[in-house]
Amino acid sequence: MKVVGSINMDVVVEVERAPEAGETVLGSDYRLHPGGKGANQAVAAARLGAAVEMIGCLGRDAYGDTLYGTLRGEGLILDNLQRVTQPTGAAFITVDQDGQNRIVVSPGANAVLTSARLPSDLERTDWLLMQLEVPLDTVRMAASRVRNGGGRVVLNAAPATVLPAELLEALDYLVVNETEAGELLGGPAPADFEQALQAAERLRGADSTTIVTLGDRGAVWAAPAGSGQVEAYTVAVVDTTACGDSFVGTLVWALSENEPLEQAMKLANAAGALTATRAGAQPSLPDLNELRRFASI
Ligand code: RIB
Repeated sequence: MKVVGSINMDVVVEVERAPEAGETVLGSDYRLHPGGKGANQAVAAARLGAAVEMIGCLGRDAYGDTLYGTLRGEGLILDNLQRVTQPTGAAFITVDQDGQNRIVVSPGANAVLTSARLPSDLERTDWLLMQLEVPLDTVRMAASRVRNGGGRVVLNAAPATVLPAELLEALDYLVVNETEAGELLGGPAPADFEQALQAAERLRGADSTTIVTLGDRGAVWAAPAGSGQVEAYTVAVVDTTACGDSFVGTLVWALSENEPLEQAMKLANAAGALTATRAGAQPSLPDLNELRRFASI
């Protein structure tokens, strides 16, 4: 599996409540955690046993050195991870008393992951997983190259933006949360399973599958072979950061292990729930033993 995506240092502050415009609130001491949607999803899959290559950019700075070390420690293949002059990507995150987060990303090095930096052997990829914290043109080009090479392409369209038709046509799986589904369709976020299923059907290509996650209400899928849903787990939420990344990384790992879609959805749903019970992005991603115990699968 290859992940083309972002790598960030997360700067996290716990607050009683997030500030309004023009307001200052006092928070906790800040903590630094390895993050970035691309890296989180790559680590999620690697902790479950997938062989994962991370393709991305880090700055030649202290955060870049730290993140290179944590990704190497997770066993990721880093042959096409490039060090660039821009600062390493950073995300500024508040987590409120209910565990809900608000995130501002400063892309830095992630913004120079141009299509020219994609590896020459990208066509030889079985599963490609991407998100939208790197340039859209790079995502479009990578999707088309892997598709032409016969590989499967998964896009987690986060953060949401208008997607070119050529990119949508190259996808096997599109994964979005309810907010992103609303943004892609130019309407309100689906509020329940029924609306989410309708959104998934509208976002789906003729041969592709769309998954809409609904946070603490579960997730739905619409696929060529039919649709379905998984109910959420009830857990004590500490921090929802990277729940979506945990879901997506687990989903693609399970699919790459030839699990049927419904089983892959159950495992992804369980991984997302476990991630909500711990603080931070990558520190909260489960390993295979924990996931299997929790999901009873
Ligand atoms: O999805 C969570 C991630 O979003 C954080 O780790 C942060 O880096 C941003 O990319």
